[in-house]
Amino acid sequence: MNRVGYGAMRLAGPNVWGRPADPEAARAMLRSAVELGVTLFDTANAYGPRTVNQLIGEALKPWPEGVIVGNKVGAGRGPDRSWILTHHPGTVRRQVHEALTDMGTEASELTYLRLAGDTPGVGSEVPLEDALGVLVELREQGLVRRIGLSGASPEMLARAQRMTPIAAVQNRFNLLDRSGVQVLAACEAQGILFVPYFPLGAGRLTDFVELLAPARRLGATPAQVALGWLLRRSPAVVVIPGTADPGHLRSNVAAAGVADRLTDAEVARLTALADESKATLGA
Ligand SMILES: NC(=O)c1ccc[n+]([C@@H]2O[C@H](COP(=O)([O-])OP(=O)(O)OC[C@H]3O[C@@H](n4cnc5c(N)ncnc54)[C@H](OP(=O)(O)O)[C@@H]3O)[C@@H](O)[C@H]2O)c1
Repeated sequence: MNRVGYGAMRLAGPNVWGRPADPEAARAMLRSAVELGVTLFDTANAYGPRTVNQLIGEALKPWPEGVIVGNKVGAGRGPDRSWILTHHPGTVRRQVHEALTDMGTEASELTYLRLAGDTPGVGSEVPLEDALGVLVELREQGLVRRIGLSGASPEMLARAQRMTPIAAVQNRFNLLDRSGVQVLAACEAQGILFVPYFPLGAGRLTDFVELLAPARRLGATPAQVALGWLLRRSPAVVVIPGTADPGHLRSNVAAAGVADRLTDAEVARLTALADESKATLGA
């Protein structure tokens, strides 16, 4: 798997809600990502909602061998547009079927259950086991091939693993926000893919001053160094930077080469910018 993937959320337009102003440009971005060798695409029923999954289906089908689309279910937006969990088993089941319809596929290679271990104030009355049980059932029916979690605390990951193997965890983690570090360690120890979301700090890291020196030395951009640091931080990591800019997409894919050229001292200095021992999920 290419360790630089593509996060498709930003194709939905502002606030992850709505339709892209130029759907053909969005489809072209997705096809261009495949041409550049991206093999992990990230999406969710909630993006658009459904619009991004439909664009992925239109742009990528038939999917080239090796391409995996990771789709998140179990979250949406309430009437005031705040994020909510939608863990009722019937809703989770419906969302998986909707994603298959929207993307025009018979099975999902990777479906994540969105939890709220990293989002204070957001929760669900439905026990994690009930929502996850639906994905286990759908895997047994052949509709889901791999199960992942997003926004999982270490305890949630352990509870989920008592029910089913977990192939990937997608938690918030970047140079400035290490809240997912304990889960990263668990993933690394168990050979689970760790997919940090907001790898560029939702854009905040693209001109972060601490990245300028290594970027200058390598003839790279700060964004590439931020992604490169993540790739060097753990072999479990696959990044999914989000962009609606074709040039940024090319530059992000090239960050794998920048990762290889960062010195150990540069990686260590960037790692030391945050105290990981104080990082707690949800902090
Ligand atoms: N599990 C979850 O709850 C969750 C939450 C949020 C996001 N996600 C996933 O994670 C993915 C990544 O998150 P994200 O897109 O919100 O944030 P991000 O990847 O940290 O940052 C994206 C921002 O950085 C800019 N950017 C990207 N590449 C750049 C480059 N090479 N140079 C300069 N600017 C660059 C983008 O603007 P341009 O468009 O101008 O390039 C955009 O504003 C999403 O697409 C989504 O799939 C998951």
